[in-house]
Amino acid sequence: MILRSMMKKTVLICLYTLCLYPALAHSQDIHIWNNQELSVLRSLWIESLPPLPADPSNKYADNTDAAILGKKLFFDTRISKNKKVSCASCHVVNKNFADNLPLAKGIGTTTRRTMPLIGVAYNTWFFWDGSKDNLWSQALGPIESSVEHGFTRTQAVMIIAQHYKNEYEKIFGQFPDLAVKEIPKRAKPEPHEPIALKKWMFMSRENRIIVNHIYARLGKAIAAYVRTLLPTASRFDQYVEAAIKKDKEAMQNILTAKEANGLRLFIGRAKCINCHTGPLFTNGDFHHVGAPRPSNLPIDRGRADAISKVLADEFNCLSVYSDAKPDQCYQLRFIDTNTRKYIGAFKTPSLRNVAERAPYMHAGQFSTLRDVLEFYRLSSQKRRSPDLEHGSLSDKELDQLNAFLQTLTGK
Ligand code: HEC
Ligand code: HEC
Repeated sequence: MILRSMMKKTVLICLYTLCLYPALAHSQDIHIWNNQELSVLRSLWIESLPPLPADPSNKYADNTDAAILGKKLFFDTRISKNKKVSCASCHVVNKNFADNLPLAKGIGTTTRRTMPLIGVAYNTWFFWDGSKDNLWSQALGPIESSVEHGFTRTQAVMIIAQHYKNEYEKIFGQFPDLAVKEIPKRAKPEPHEPIALKKWMFMSRENRIIVNHIYARLGKAIAAYVRTLLPTASRFDQYVEAAIKKDKEAMQNILTAKEANGLRLFIGRAKCINCHTGPLFTNGDFHHVGAPRPSNLPIDRGRADAISKVLADEFNCLSVYSDAKPDQCYQLRFIDTNTRKYIGAFKTPSLRNVAERAPYMHAGQFSTLRDVLEFYRLSSQKRRSPDLEHGSLSDKELDQLNAFLQTLTGK
């Protein structure tokens, strides 16, 4: 009897030390970070976000009145062919300024997914392929795109003249003395729309320049508004704060062991940090990760085709419509023109709020984060890029990474 109970005790102690104790100790260990890891965590922390970079190409970038006007323009559906589309149709406020669709829908359907706008002003290049080098000229693209707003710059200028003249003049000075009647309605330098192009070419050179200046300022006002869209702290950020203070208890309360394990993988063996770096979880650069091409879409060469576009863009940093001095257009002047290197490369997206904004990738190829992670597991095996090498990841590890990605959602 005594022997039996002793044996029972020994078995219990054994069980505790062998199985339970290590498990308990491990779940605490997961919240211990060495100095090097801690500095990586700090680099991802929202508090490490520097002040917004200046935009010398837009001298109204931080002008409050311009941002107020920009906000009105952002939501104005009159700036579209069918009077139904505004920037906010696709960049929906309560959907992280995106739309949860694989491909965006305006007048028609785009060939890429709508990008979220939070923190976008920290970027150097805009769009999935970086075919724009500043935020105001970016805004001018969708307005004239036949599948987005389906509008023209001459129509946009007339909207400003009719509805926003006072606000325009308060910010930019006198509205140019433009004989509105001489300006054809649907005119734009768009080779794919020959009638609109012809009308544009028949306008006088002076009128074309005046229209372009007003159109550029419309973009500058919208950009001033878009600059105000900034990320907010997430559970992950609270965790880093607790980690810096070495407040173990708070850390355990903020992230579960599974989520913390996911974080450890993210900055460690899974190598996500190779590209998803800094407080916005993006290096802002272009990479070929090899997301499959949807069968209904044409081949998209991404960054490779954007380099010549941005260099030739009539509204780039070096253009006459930019407020920058040429030496301030550093990024454009020293652009990497190695097209071959960038075939099929797209901009690394920010991962802030990522759990809330499925589907994923530039054409919405994946509908869940789990699918994205399965894809990363496979692409490492296919050795697409040395940056993607991570040995192998188990199903459990994919779960942990998935759990970690859920902690990046701000309020
Ligand atoms: C029909 C839907 C639609 C409309 C309308 C629309 N967008 Fe977008 N937006 C997109 C899509 C799709 C992309 C990605 C396009 C690409 O990469 O080719 C995008 C990309 C962007 C980006 C780049 C983000 C980044 O990280 O590089 C910004 C900024 C932006 N849009 C702002 C605007 C503004 C401002 C307007 C209004 C003038 C607007 N959009 C109108 C769908 C839309
Ligand atoms: C070589 C650079 C690189 C590495 C390493 C990398 N990513 Fe990415 N990530 C990208 C690029 C580029 C895209 C966009 C690809 C596209 O749209 O075709 C992307 C897209 C994503 C998306 C979709 C986000 C969205 O808004 O569509 C998620 C989620 C993601 N990555 C998570 C991860 C995780 C988790 C890891 C580690 C297992 C990782 N990434 C490793 C560059 C990288």
